[in-house]
Amino acid sequence: MSKISVISIALFLLLTAKLPAQSSSSFDARADALLAKMTLEEKIGQLNQYSSPQELTGPQEKKNNILADIQAGKVGSMLNVRGVDQTTLYQKAAMESRLHIPLLFGLDVIHGYHTTFPIPLAEASSWDMEAIEAASRVAATEASASGIHWTFAPMVDIARDPRWGRVMEGAGEDPYLGSQIAKARVLGFQGKGLGSTDAVMACVKHFAGYGAAIGGRDYNSVDMSRNTLWNIYLPPFKAALDAGAATFMNAFNTLNGIPATGNKYLLRDILKGQWKFDGFVVSDWGSIGEMTAHGYAEDQADAAKVAIAAGTDMDMESHSYIDHLKALVESGQIKEGLINDAVKRILIKKFQMGLFEDPYRFSDKDREKRAISDPAALVLARSVAAKSIVLLKNEHHLLPLSSHEKTIALIGPLVKTGREMKGAWSIGWGKEEHVVSLYEGMQKQAGHTRLLYAKGCEVNDTSRAGFGEAIEVAKQSDIIVMAVGENAGMSGEARSRSNIHIPGVQEALIKAIQATGKPVVVLLMSGRPLLFNWTADHVPAILCTWFLGSEAGNAIADVLYGKYNPSGKLTMTFPRTEGQIPIYYNYLNTGRPAPDGPLPSFRSGYFDLEKSPRYAFGYGLSYTTFEYRDLQISKKNITAEDSLTVSFTLKNTGARDGAEVAQLYLRDLVAKPVRPVKELKDFKKIFLKAGESQTVIFKIGKDKLSFYDKDLNRVEQPGKFELMIGGASDEIRLRGYFDLH
Ligand code: BGC
Repeated sequence: MSKISVISIALFLLLTAKLPAQSSSSFDARADALLAKMTLEEKIGQLNQYSSPQELTGPQEKKNNILADIQAGKVGSMLNVRGVDQTTLYQKAAMESRLHIPLLFGLDVIHGYHTTFPIPLAEASSWDMEAIEAASRVAATEASASGIHWTFAPMVDIARDPRWGRVMEGAGEDPYLGSQIAKARVLGFQGKGLGSTDAVMACVKHFAGYGAAIGGRDYNSVDMSRNTLWNIYLPPFKAALDAGAATFMNAFNTLNGIPATGNKYLLRDILKGQWKFDGFVVSDWGSIGEMTAHGYAEDQADAAKVAIAAGTDMDMESHSYIDHLKALVESGQIKEGLINDAVKRILIKKFQMGLFEDPYRFSDKDREKRAISDPAALVLARSVAAKSIVLLKNEHHLLPLSSHEKTIALIGPLVKTGREMKGAWSIGWGKEEHVVSLYEGMQKQAGHTRLLYAKGCEVNDTSRAGFGEAIEVAKQSDIIVMAVGENAGMSGEARSRSNIHIPGVQEALIKAIQATGKPVVVLLMSGRPLLFNWTADHVPAILCTWFLGSEAGNAIADVLYGKYNPSGKLTMTFPRTEGQIPIYYNYLNTGRPAPDGPLPSFRSGYFDLEKSPRYAFGYGLSYTTFEYRDLQISKKNITAEDSLTVSFTLKNTGARDGAEVAQLYLRDLVAKPVRPVKELKDFKKIFLKAGESQTVIFKIGKDKLSFYDKDLNRVEQPGKFELMIGGASDEIRLRGYFDLH
């Protein structure tokens, strides 16, 4: 059994408490019985979610009213309340309300709570579902021990535009990989299921289309065909739902002119209709009220009417429901049945969580203390962080560092910072002083090697005043490791950038250090794909290290010293310039496809720019090399009810042990509507000792051949399929064909 499984089981046994089994019909009946006792005001109260007053900047008077509102049964849930003391305080107020209906406490536990894990885009680069699930399990264990019932994660928005700051919070650009990761995260958060005190409810967000904000500008409109919506953007949501996700969050954006928050097609027709989702939907922060700014609702009352009719059950912080739903029902503008349905969905979750048995069952001081000081969580965080690192370049085997290097210079504005390693969405209890910086991580493993340091410059500043010192330090060393990139706050919500180059004068610093003639390793720390063409062309070794969380420095040192052989692969395309954006591997061929390289006349490309990306989806190197050979396809002709197997030999041909992510892509050569030039359909991460080989098998059946057609029916169409296997979307090593009849 792997180390990760042992850790998760140990944590689970230590911290879990489960309710006696109850059937879903009993939850349903209990919710109905309670609903029958509730006044209209009390029902509307359940649909109302407030943020902790500590997070609000509004008038003191409003803050003071929250406890009174809870006692009056006007609040169903709070967000941003953390810790046993605080959650107990608010829950006590709820217990003083007439019907003693417990509150739900929600929080953005996005990449850890006390232990900070790599940002989700980094973690996705591990392509390791077991590790991702285990990380979410630890996050849930820690958060639930601190009174949290509900995380606003996973974010499963497909992201094709690295200008958008929230790419850091998702799994990248691919619907298949995104679906696997969505499932892993939901399973991790919800553990053995709602009712265990170490399970938090997942909230799949942002439903839907948010990742396609025009121009990568956060909160911007989304205009998208149903073909793209169903085949690219919706699959990870469906996968999260199939994995049992308890709740959904809608989105800030309009989709084809209709705000997601008031979008009946998304919420009632697809989610609650066709997909039969029986949990509840929370709005995004203030998004009900924002329908007035969109120009979709006349005022807050109209916005409340539109949102509840469309299927938004809970109002996060817009106050539209609490202020207006009662009058809307009393004036006959909306039916009370709509409210009853929303309330019942929320009550059922509270019953399932066991909060009516014991409203404080998640708020347990001893459990909180134990969960917060569990060393096993840090072991896991270090291993997940190492797996998230992507080796982009390694000329002449510069890495791993050898014991011959007597002096290593650590240069750059991100060498000594722990805070930035935490990433943008670490708002639990992860303390900055608990984060291992690169410098600290290197110190622990340096042995007799001398470490020198110079900051060189700030992350996002024009001053070159520190260059001289950095050059001097570089000259005194055998090799230079540079830590450059973004500050954590340059990605995340409302952190879109139009210019995604390495910020400030950092690339100029890299040039200056490279000019010393000493070997240079660049570590790129960021929440998004960056542009660094000069560095990519000239610097011999480059690692993408994102923001790796609590154990960042240790994990990077593990990779630099070769204790861990990098195995990460990019899950978002890295462009050459912003002009190529949006850029992704699963594009349509067009009627005039262009080859990579110089553009022939009248072909689809740029006459002033190479069209291929800098680094493609699925790309990532290792300290060893892998050979793919002996492709066997079990059948050349299949029917839709049939399946075939593809097998090949994967061999580690280098001198080091290592893991490879073998990727299977398919192309449906003729289809209506047309299909992408390549679609990831399966992958396997395989560890091989130096010299070792293994037969790898993929099975191809209906699920991998079907797609949504023009009428949005899931179909598989007869014809020829091309099958491609390799270590990256642009590094296909084996190719074959089969026919579907
Ligand atoms: C974000 C959500 C988040 C919510 C609560 C919003 O601004 O878009 O993703 O869950 O705030 O913090």
